[in-house]
Amino acid sequence: MKYVLMFTFLFSIVAVNNVYAAADTAAGKAKFDMLCAGCHGAGGAGDGPAGPSLKPPPANLTKTKLDDAGLTKIITEGGPAVGRSPTMAAFGSSLKADEIADVVAYIRTLKK
Ligand code: HEC
Repeated sequence: MKYVLMFTFLFSIVAVNNVYAAADTAAGKAKFDMLCAGCHGAGGAGDGPAGPSLKPPPANLTKTKLDDAGLTKIITEGGPAVGRSPTMAAFGSSLKADEIADVVAYIRTLKK
């Protein structure tokens, strides 16, 4: 019994870590180009075609101070969930959790 519990415990740690470890930046880029670049720009600098008409402007993701959890939260739940603009929509219903993890991993690669 003790070993079963220990195995379950270790397995859950591995499974949780894998959400980030297995994140696929190429898949994340594909989603980003399709869903986010129009506002945030192809390189994430906040300079997408829709950017100039938006107030507040789309965030410059190359300079974000949010950690993975913070990025995941605003992308999943949208701006208003974290006291930000509703122009930043919630993507929790259009993207699965692992797809959001891919996008977060891709945003990490844009950071300067
Ligand atoms: C319609 C335009 C628009 C689209 C599309 C959009 N965003 Fe945003 N996003 C914004 C705006 C505007 C803000 C700034 C909100 C504020 O400052 O109150 C923002 C803020 C953010 C932030 C917060 C960054 C920080 O450092 O505070 C993240 C992360 C983000 N967006 C990621 C994404 C991702 C990923 C996608 C695609 C899945 C996406 N956004 C699609 C407009 C957009």
